[in-house]
Amino acid sequence: MHAAFRSIGAYVPTKILTNADFEAMVDTTDEWIFKRTGIKERHIAADDETTSDMGVKAAELAIERSGLSKNDIDMIVCATISPDYFCMPSTATIIATKLGLEKVTAFDLSAACTGFVYALSVARAFIESGMKKNVLIVGSEKLSAITDYTDRGTCILFGDGAGAAVISATTDKSEAIIDIHTGSDGAYADLLMSPNGGSGSIHDDPTGSACVMKMKGNETFKVAVRTLTNDVVAILEENNITSSAIQHFVPHQANYRIIKAVGDALNLKDEQVVITVEKYGNTSGASIPMAINDIYESGRLQKGELMLLDAFGGGLTWGSALVPFAGKNI
Ligand code: UT7
Repeated sequence: MHAAFRSIGAYVPTKILTNADFEAMVDTTDEWIFKRTGIKERHIAADDETTSDMGVKAAELAIERSGLSKNDIDMIVCATISPDYFCMPSTATIIATKLGLEKVTAFDLSAACTGFVYALSVARAFIESGMKKNVLIVGSEKLSAITDYTDRGTCILFGDGAGAAVISATTDKSEAIIDIHTGSDGAYADLLMSPNGGSGSIHDDPTGSACVMKMKGNETFKVAVRTLTNDVVAILEENNITSSAIQHFVPHQANYRIIKAVGDALNLKDEQVVITVEKYGNTSGASIPMAINDIYESGRLQKGELMLLDAFGGGLTWGSALVPFAGKNI
């Protein structure tokens, strides 16, 4: 049995924070933000809108586009670092209930910005082993809930949103996910972390706010470029695939300069590289499925086309995947 990437959906909240809005909040400029990150705006969830609410909207779209009924879904994996509730219950179980699914296997996965690629690898493993047939993977983030809006080094980066995909069993090898890499190095944990709010709390934040993100941006940037470049080169070589065979390079949308550096290392043409960071900012585990949804809804992603996904985030974690799109054309 193989695992096929059957459908995609996404949800973006309506409220927009522009770079000009940040000029009024912290010591920054539109020019600095755009030049250093490629970001112009990001979407922010409503106060009463949760990570599960956004995940459900993305999931409903993905399920509808898969041609399956909700009851065909036998597992939900939610990749998030901004769950409805820290500790428990998982956001995946809340999504299951809101979708009207009972008794489904549901759990969250914590791999920060690499969460969607990790979730894809879990779905694939459950399907290939025969344990599950149709796995819903959701990347949903309300990062505005864990962002320190007084820290100009991080607050300008992050946005909210959700993406979801249905991964299904297939006997057709041409539809099969080709390969997935996942990796981590906890020695770099302090580069990007939420130091408060857990059993290892550092309590160095005088505001006492739990779970806000802290990042050593420049060091993270350098490790990201090096790690991602090595990883995407390796996954292509190991599978005897040249970069010209990739129709869509869909990287985690953290910073345009990181995406450009990795794309250049692979000699990719602009039309092969999917960029959404300008309009959504960094939405962590949601950024890759939101980007896939963008190319799907614009008609750029067609059945049978090959995607190369790559992601990098807190942990540190990283991953890449070679994924043919096995869904219906829009
Ligand atoms: O998604 C998970 C993985 N995340 C990433 O991969 C993010 C990686 N890092 C980055 O994207 C970039 O490092 C940032 C966008 C966060 C920062 O860009 P940078 O080019 O690495 O800037 P920097 O941290 O080296 O800071 C350069 C200067 C500093 O001032 P001084 O010390 O040179 O006087 C900062 O204080 O820019 C200053 N600065 C700002 N200036 C205006 C930092 N943030 C801002 C700001 N506006 N928002």
